[in-house]
Amino acid sequence: MSAAPASLAARPLSARKSGALKGIAAVPGDKSISQRALILGGMALGETRISGLLESEDVLNTAGAVRALGAEATRDGEGRWRVNGVGVGHWRQPAEVLDFGNSGTGSRLMMGAVATTPITAGFTGDASLRSRPMARVLDPLTRFGMRYEAQGPKALMPLTVFGAAHATAIDYRVPVASAQVKSALLLAALNAQGTSRISQDALTRDHTEKMLAGFGAEITVSAQGRGEAITILGKAALKGMAIEVPRDPSSAAFPLVAALIVPGSDILIPAILLNPRRTGLIETLLEMGARIEIQNRRISGGEDVGDLRVRHSALQGVTVPAARAPSMIDEFPVLAVAAAFAEGETVMQGLEELRVKESDRLSAIARGLEANGVAFTETADGLTVKGSGMVRGGGMVATHMDHRIAMSFLTLGLAAQNPVTVDDTAMIATSFPSYEHLMRDLGAELEAP
Ligand code: S3P
Repeated sequence: MSAAPASLAARPLSARKSGALKGIAAVPGDKSISQRALILGGMALGETRISGLLESEDVLNTAGAVRALGAEATRDGEGRWRVNGVGVGHWRQPAEVLDFGNSGTGSRLMMGAVATTPITAGFTGDASLRSRPMARVLDPLTRFGMRYEAQGPKALMPLTVFGAAHATAIDYRVPVASAQVKSALLLAALNAQGTSRISQDALTRDHTEKMLAGFGAEITVSAQGRGEAITILGKAALKGMAIEVPRDPSSAAFPLVAALIVPGSDILIPAILLNPRRTGLIETLLEMGARIEIQNRRISGGEDVGDLRVRHSALQGVTVPAARAPSMIDEFPVLAVAAAFAEGETVMQGLEELRVKESDRLSAIARGLEANGVAFTETADGLTVKGSGMVRGGGMVATHMDHRIAMSFLTLGLAAQNPVTVDDTAMIATSFPSYEHLMRDLGAELEAP
């Protein structure tokens, strides 16, 4: 089941100036890793045992799709799941259209996963997902011999994928800085004859590559210019494995920035994924003068993990290099909030991908800043926030069915002079169902307007 459109079940919420935030913010499992664990588990033979799975709407929709394609996905307890896969190339013909709700990652990775199996699969989603371009994934996938039917030149959902019966390996350079496109091609390559080579000029998140190696795929990664090239051998046999999902740095970003901007705050965010392809926000905030201590750094389930102690900080504006954008692509809305409380200008560049997220995120950030009296300039692919250490607030923010816009502007309200209201919080359940509860426990003042 997908989430209802915002207009049908809108749940507005206000955040107001709060006292010091204190306590432990145990955010849920990483969304990117959770999605991949279910899909790869579904393509493997034998059992994949997952702990710490994010049980959000996006991930549960992916679990539904994996089941519809013939794998078994069973919940044993909170965050504990077992997947018994069908084996590469053995997805079953689904009886129904696969509904991914709000999830770009679940749907796009699954398009790749089915592209080289001879089945016909329909894909749909909510109003936000139905407006997002799928051509960026589907067009390169046709090189494997698959076909698709979709809406208009951007290949919008609802769409149908006709998987290729005899796919052969491809050599392809991904022209956009998207981990979803790269991952879709790698998953399709698993059932192609021969060795595929997928390259990219940017260093996007590498969870698919790491997990594929863990499942026993023959995969190599080598540096190439500013990016890298990946080779993967097709007709692969994946073997089920145990996966421990670390906590999501993209969800941690909200309590983290809240603690930095609310005076007197001192919180601990335990066991956060610190994969270097995901830590651009922390790097940037440290440059801004944030008091973030990374404690107890360790490796867990093949990924870097650590605990973050975060204290209220006097922040200064900085310039974020464009090359860092992929490692913090989901964190720009909340960085803009931190920047609003900093002294001076924070310059963000290379943001073109934000135009095609759950909303046109660049525009949604700009309108939200405007509504709350924050000075900024917006360009086609950049944003400069002019901070003065203080924010007027008092605005009503349109979230456009985008969970990260909702959580970012609620964060703004926790330290602004006047309460900030977001028009809908229903979509927060797509990535961070415990958000309100967790923030209130820290002392955040969130209430129905
Ligand atoms: C994701 C990749 C990113 C990111 C999304 C999750 C992933 O999207 O914004 O939230 O799990 O691969 P793009 O691949 O479109 O950059």
